[in-house]
Amino acid sequence: MRQKLVVGNWKMHGSRTQVRQLIEDVAAGTAGLNDVEIAVAPTFLHLGLAAQLSQQVGAEHPKLAAQNLYPQEQGAFTGEVSAPMLADYGVTYVIVGHSERREIFAETDQAVAVKFQAAQEGGLLPILCVGESLQQREQGSSEEVVLSQLDAVIAAAGVEALQSAVIAYEPIWAIGTGKTASPEQAQGIHRVLREHIAKSNSTIAAGVRILYGGSVKASSATELFDQTDIDGGLVGGASLKAEEFISICKSAD
Ligand code: 13P
Repeated sequence: MRQKLVVGNWKMHGSRTQVRQLIEDVAAGTAGLNDVEIAVAPTFLHLGLAAQLSQQVGAEHPKLAAQNLYPQEQGAFTGEVSAPMLADYGVTYVIVGHSERREIFAETDQAVAVKFQAAQEGGLLPILCVGESLQQREQGSSEEVVLSQLDAVIAAAGVEALQSAVIAYEPIWAIGTGKTASPEQAQGIHRVLREHIAKSNSTIAAGVRILYGGSVKASSATELFDQTDIDGGLVGGASLKAEEFISICKSAD
């Protein structure tokens, strides 16, 4: 059985006060949820504070995720943060290949694969994001796009690497638009991803968690999480509102 995972991607949001409040509220509101794993991804700047608060609160949830990393251990890389540094702060997960990084920061499939491997080498579990644009969906190439993004990582790291990783299907047209993929649309792509992995290794395919991301709300979470191949969510906007996020976490429990 794959344990459901809900990750809040806070993107570039939050003040110290908001981070404090959100961590406290999420910790309190998710206490007693035993069947779901929960993580939040604050900015690099706020990770230390979040780690400190989590320790003080001593709650099981949330774990911490980072939104990015640089694929070197240390060195003259001004402005960057490495996997070992994140692990040292108690960070568990790191998002790699988010569409905003692919689009705004021109990260290629190859660069994403390198980050994926560096994350694992540094002791983190990568959350690999894949997803097609609206144009690609309209052209009927959604499956081809997500599989080629996945294959770039498999080619570099090997299919076995997916044993210590999470995949997130985030259709770009659903991110921040309020347009959630229907549960059937999402399930369709999740199944394609899992079946593709199964061609190389059925055990790994059966075990890897595939999250859905793209305008997940409390009102849409249950139906999405009920789908056979949807193992939780990567939540953007709704993760900034404690009540909404807690409700999404409860849907996965
Ligand atoms: P929204 O939930 O705001 O659409 O963002 C999804 C996302 O990009 C999570 O990584």
